Amino acid sequence: MKTAKSIILYVALVLFGFTAVSELLFAQIPSTIPDALTVIHSRKSVRKYLDKPVSKEQLEILLRAGMAAPTAGDKRPWEFVVITDPAMLDTLSLATRGTRMLSSAAAAIAVCGNTSIGFKSEVWVHDCSAASENILLAVEAIGLGAVWTGIYLNVEPTKYVQRVLGLPEEVIPLNVISIGYPTGAEKPKNKWDPTKIHWEKW
Ligand SMILES: Cc1cc2nc3c(=O)[nH]c(=O)nc-3n(C[C@H](O)[C@H](O)[C@H](O)COP(=O)(O)O)c2cc1C
Repeated sequence: MKTAKSIILYVALVLFGFTAVSELLFAQIPSTIPDALTVIHSRKSVRKYLDKPVSKEQLEILLRAGMAAPTAGDKRPWEFVVITDPAMLDTLSLATRGTRMLSSAAAAIAVCGNTSIGFKSEVWVHDCSAASENILLAVEAIGLGAVWTGIYLNVEPTKYVQRVLGLPEEVIPLNVISIGYPTGAEKPKNKWDPTKIHWEKW
């Protein structure tokens, strides 16, 4: 009898423990994800955030989406620096006039090109841009909000981000993606413009 009680208690604890842990892990991930086209057309730059943290699991979903992107010659010349420390986000927010929202973001991902990997050209910019868009779409899919803040091509901000993040010389930040829970203030734009389409020939 005593053994049976112990077994029941053990099973209950295991079940409770598993439920508690899984709730902790998955609580912030929506159980249903909208379809791809809905996500694409709902994506918008989000610069205003709720005061709510994003979890490591949410960030890993975004990073997995980034690394699913196509790259020239399948070289994958990317590096991702994930920032959640508020003091670091504050420091990064000073990189350019366009990075100010980082001070109120819950997290950021600096998408960087590793110029020692892949082709000796700037094709890493294309590769890392594809990864960045995947991240932005994954952000939308899981109910977060984000904005791409441009770093690359701005000489001083590039040096600043390299210094703040301690990047090796051959690693160049393309952008810093600012991430948080959206307030709902920002809406997607309708950019459909048939005059931009040239069927068969200009
Ligand atoms: C290469 C690139 C650089 C950008 N840099 C910034 C930036 O520094 N700061 C910012 O607030 N938004 C930046 N954006 C976001 C654009 O302003 C935004 O995508 C554009 O206004 C269209 O709005 P939407 O993203 O809501 O469709 C950048 C976007 C791209 C693709």
